[in-house]
Amino acid sequence: MQTKQTIAIIGATGNMGSAIAKGISKGNYRLLLKGNDQAALDALVGDIKTKNAHADVDTAVCPADASWEADIIILDVPFSAEAEIAAKIREVANQKIVISIANPLNESYNGLTTASDSSAAEELQKLLPNSKVIKAFNTSFAADFNSPVIDGKQSDAFIAGNDEEAVQIVSEIVATAGFNPIAAGDLSVSRTLENMQLLLIQLGMKNNYNWLAGWKILHH
Ligand SMILES: NC(=O)c1ccc[n+]([C@@H]2O[C@H](COP(=O)([O-])OP(=O)(O)OC[C@H]3O[C@@H](n4cnc5c(N)ncnc54)[C@H](OP(=O)(O)O)[C@@H]3O)[C@@H](O)[C@H]2O)c1
Repeated sequence: MQTKQTIAIIGATGNMGSAIAKGISKGNYRLLLKGNDQAALDALVGDIKTKNAHADVDTAVCPADASWEADIIILDVPFSAEAEIAAKIREVANQKIVISIANPLNESYNGLTTASDSSAAEELQKLLPNSKVIKAFNTSFAADFNSPVIDGKQSDAFIAGNDEEAVQIVSEIVATAGFNPIAAGDLSVSRTLENMQLLLIQLGMKNNYNWLAGWKILHH
């Protein structure tokens, strides 16, 4: 049996953090949840354990403690908060996988705050040069985690990263949450993935799409 990996979820009480925590709690992982609101964190742990008494899930006191114990760290915070958190975890995130889910949307949701020759994931990699930053989950909406299977087909979830083994490990996490993982390329492909989600959000706002739409490539 594969060694159980510990995953720290920073920002676990947010829309995405709680959706990811619930989604992967059925897997062979130990989850360490960090959020600013302890009551909300405790409620999330209670909710997960009510649905799965065997779930291995606990709360953490601070991002550095959670990341120190973890093999894999997921930053479920706004892009604007990542520099502050990266500074807190840099030393303990050495050689570890750090998952970037951020879409660096501007305030009007009509553009990205990153330069066109960069992405949130690449900016995070610059802040954590000794970590393996992998882009994942940014093209799924939090609501998609309730029903990642649409019309009998799993929604696609794109992954980008420079380290092949890390991409494989993250693909397994994405599959545990119920999505169809698609390795899309190296970390610079995050530019495309973040722009894809910007497009989906803009189309959703313009056409009032159901937020459960997500991405589905039709396999023939
Ligand atoms: N929502 C989606 O459907 C979706 C889809 C794909 C990707 N994303 C990306 O996922 C990330 C989170 O989005 P969300 O919708 O889940 O946001 P959210 O519901 O507002 O949750 C954000 C979380 O980050 C925490 N946080 C904020 N600033 C922090 C700081 N300086 N230090 C530590 N924790 C901090 C918040 O904690 P407190 O509230 O306790 O302060 C909260 O737990 C964003 O980067 C977003 O682009 C979102």
